[in-house]
Amino acid sequence: QRFFESKGDFSGKKVALTMGPTQEAIDPVRFISNHSSGKMGLALAEAFLERGAEVWVISGPVAIPVNKEKFHWKDVNSAEEMFHAASAIHSQMDIVVFTAAVADYAPATVATEKIKKDEDAMQIRLKKNVDIAKELGSKKQPKQFHVGFALETENEEFHAKEKLQRKNFDLIVLNSMKESGAGFRLDTNRVTVFSKNGGQWKSPLASKSEIAQLILDHIKRESSWTLI
Ligand code: CTP
Ligand code: CA
Repeated sequence: QRFFESKGDFSGKKVALTMGPTQEAIDPVRFISNHSSGKMGLALAEAFLERGAEVWVISGPVAIPVNKEKFHWKDVNSAEEMFHAASAIHSQMDIVVFTAAVADYAPATVATEKIKKDEDAMQIRLKKNVDIAKELGSKKQPKQFHVGFALETENEEFHAKEKLQRKNFDLIVLNSMKESGAGFRLDTNRVTVFSKNGGQWKSPLASKSEIAQLILDHIKRESSWTLI
C-alpha cells in the first residue's frame, strides 16, 4: 500500500498528541477514569515518528508498553494537567492531534484523606473539566492543523461534524462503537474521517497502525503544506 512509500514526508514537522484516559482524583486512593487504552494514540505517534516528524506526546496513565525515549514524552494524570502540558507547547506545533479520552467531569473537591465507608448510599459532586481541544482550538494559528477524535454510539455523523465545528478541528476521526472489531482495547479499528472542507472517507477494518498511516495520509492531503 502507498503508505510504505511515504517515509520522511512529515520531516521538519512538529506534532503534539494527547492520548490515553485521564484520571480524576476522588481521594488519595481513588479516581474516576475510562477504558481508553492509548493504543490508537500511540499508533499515531509512532506513525508520525516513522514519517519523520518530531513528536511530543502528552499521555494519561496507560498500561501498553512504550519506548518513551523516541518521543518528547510527558506523563499526566488529570485533564487539568493534560491541559497545562498541551498549552505550554501548543504555539510551537504544526500539527496537534487530540486522541485522549479526557474525563468530562472531575470531583468538585478532592478529599485529602481516604473516604471512609459509612452511609448506604453516597454521592460525589462533579464539576465539568476544561475542554482541551476547544480551548486550544480557539488559539489555533492559520498554519496549525488540529485533528480530533470522536467516539459516538448514536447519530454518529451528526455529532462528529458538530465537534469538528465546535472545537475548530481541521479533521475529525470518528470511531464507531457499532463496528465489530473496532474500539477500545482491540488492535483493529475502522474509522470515518471528516474534513472541515466537507470531505468524508471511510477506512477499511485494519490494524491500528495501518489506520494511523491512513489518517496521516489524510492530514497530509488536507493541510496546506500538501505539495511535497
Ligand atoms: N477533548 C478534549 N478535552 C476534553 C474533552 C474532549 O481535548 N475535556 C477532545 C478529545 O480528545 C477528542 C474530542 O475532544 O479529540 C472529542 O471528544 P469527545 O469526548 O467526543 O467530545 P465532548 O465534547 O466531550 O463530547 P461528549 O459529550 O460526546 O463526550
Ligand atoms: Ca467527552
